[in-house]
Amino acid sequence: MKPLKGLILSGGKGTRLRPITHTSAKQLVPVANRPVLFYGIDAMAQAGISEIGIIIAPETGEEIKEVAGDGSQFGVKITYILQDEPAGLAHAVLTAEPFLGDSPFVMYLGDNLLQGGIDDLVAKFKQGEPDALILLTPVPDPEHFGVAELDGERVVALAEKPPEPKTNLALVGVYMFMPLIHDAARAIEPSPRGELEITDAIQYLVDNDKRVEPHIVQGWWKDTGRLDDMLEANRLILDRMESRVEGSLDSESAVEGRVVIEGGATLTRATVRGPAIIGKGATLTDCYIGPYTAIGEDCAVERAEVEHSILLAGSSVRGLDGRMEASLLGRNVHIARSVGQPKAYRFMVGDNSDIGIL
Ligand code: G1P
Repeated sequence: MKPLKGLILSGGKGTRLRPITHTSAKQLVPVANRPVLFYGIDAMAQAGISEIGIIIAPETGEEIKEVAGDGSQFGVKITYILQDEPAGLAHAVLTAEPFLGDSPFVMYLGDNLLQGGIDDLVAKFKQGEPDALILLTPVPDPEHFGVAELDGERVVALAEKPPEPKTNLALVGVYMFMPLIHDAARAIEPSPRGELEITDAIQYLVDNDKRVEPHIVQGWWKDTGRLDDMLEANRLILDRMESRVEGSLDSESAVEGRVVIEGGATLTRATVRGPAIIGKGATLTDCYIGPYTAIGEDCAVERAEVEHSILLAGSSVRGLDGRMEASLLGRNVHIARSVGQPKAYRFMVGDNSDIGIL
């Protein structure tokens, strides 16, 4: 088999993570202080894939290029491929055809996180050389995903978000393909949502007696499109981090459990109870940071308690009476007690925001 290439899809609008994604790509929202996208690149690098194409959209492409660069930080070579319109996953494959050529490839949705990487999957694909190998996992709500029906080691039918799913096996956002998939993507029609669905392209392979095989995911898998999924992904990644304290703590500060404190972070009378990560240059003063929290670079927390939350770079939380939890703050968001009269709540909040007050 020719060497595998990688294709990561990093377009899309991220509507379910607004307002965060008004100003930033959903694939760059951090999990344990690293953009989600990086975990996919790592997984490919780890599986020995060195040529990776990243599909970008006109609105967020520049930002993605800036952050992921030429790939040298991951030990891979990245080529950026512009998809003009969000016309579906199979359309993305066709857009990438000049890059992919006649190489077999792994396609990875850039907002997905898969525990344990893709080594097993790649090995199975290389060994069996099926026309497609799709990753599946049982889910409680299959109607929200592509759904597969199996007959032993064969996939016999697929449906994209069927109202009445025949099984609970969801298509996970990672797929392995032989170059034949390009013909399939060309042969299908747009779905009711107006997209060329990869699910339909795979069904086309099945209909033409090509070999489509399943691989059931062993560890966890997260599609990080929504707030709760982001928090859960954060929790899962923080849970397996190695502790490392490089910032500075005064004698009245304490760090308990699995905690990373990056260099240049400063703790003054602060307690951090892991799993948690505190980014470069953050300042924690007279505060408590509880489990499953990721504090981004240059954030400040003062006279407040924060738990099970994600703060993006440059944000601050000061002087809260109650504990803040299950929250996601975008970049440069500031939450503080209002002073002076009249005694009132003061907000300056962007579109599609959610605020819960005590
Ligand atoms: C896409 C696929 C779907 C798959 C899902 C996994 O859905 O169309 O088959 O199950 O990714 O995350 P979308 O995120 O485009 O709604």
